Amino acid sequence: MKTILITGCSTGFGLETARYFLDRGWQVIATMRKPEASVLPPSPNLRVLPLDVTDADSIATAVAAAGQIDVLVNNAGIGLLGAVEGTGMDVARQVFEANTFGTFAMTQAVLPQFRQRRAGVVINVTSTVTLVPLPLLAVYTASKAAVNAFTECLALELAQFGVRTHLVLPGRAPDTAFGQNARALMAGTIPPAYDALAQGIFARWGEPSLITTAVEVAEGVWRAATDAAAPMRIPAGADAVALAA
Ligand SMILES: NC(=O)c1ccc[n+]([C@@H]2O[C@H](COP(=O)([O-])OP(=O)(O)OC[C@H]3O[C@@H](n4cnc5c(N)ncnc54)[C@H](OP(=O)(O)O)[C@@H]3O)[C@@H](O)[C@H]2O)c1
Repeated sequence: MKTILITGCSTGFGLETARYFLDRGWQVIATMRKPEASVLPPSPNLRVLPLDVTDADSIATAVAAAGQIDVLVNNAGIGLLGAVEGTGMDVARQVFEANTFGTFAMTQAVLPQFRQRRAGVVINVTSTVTLVPLPLLAVYTASKAAVNAFTECLALELAQFGVRTHLVLPGRAPDTAFGQNARALMAGTIPPAYDALAQGIFARWGEPSLITTAVEVAEGVWRAATDAAAPMRIPAGADAVALAA
């Protein structure tokens, strides 16, 4: 039975991906900053471990407790909508610590066991915002575009060991806690001079359009985990598939 470790399982894509793999008989290590096993169905195949991907000790403890894993999913992340002018460096650093360096650090932590066993899959959840430049998303997009570049370079280092890396690129998923969680960082990130631009974006988001669901992201992760011939970049969600095409 294969084991998957997923970061950021308290809500959204991580939670749905944990459910999806449990339903298909995998051993799931669902990690959360504040572990709450009751968000997932009880199962002998489920372990819930504490993990903050911005904390080196937390990473070392979680990876040691996890033991042998077959697939790592770097899903934990935070959003940010803000003009560059209004985004303090402390906020920009927080976004990169979670989205970018958290992914790098988790990947580094599992690579020794993957290399030694000459097997393993690293799946990094980024975003279709990396495919098209968008206003007020410079910092967030940069944090995810860096992960795209990291993952594609890493693939070339790891092919010799039989270790795969993939990117899952979700589109816009308004049904997760992502927007709500992002608001915590957004005080002052949209100065008055950028208000009209922001209102235009909010109005467009209010119009009917294709979106991404959490289960579509779980399906993308499943494909990356189980199909050795899966492409490096896997768009997840109807809007993501349309954009990537
Ligand atoms: N929703 C979208 O529109 C969208 C689109 C494209 C890509 N994405 C990406 O998809 C991923 C999941 O997003 P989502 O929509 O499922 O959002 P979400 O519901 O807000 O889930 C994000 C998860 O990441 C966790 N997290 C945040 N910082 C963390 C840290 N330092 N250490 C460990 N866990 C941390 C959160 O945990 P807490 O509960 O502890 O905060 C939460 O479980 C993110 O990487 C996001 O950037 C989202």
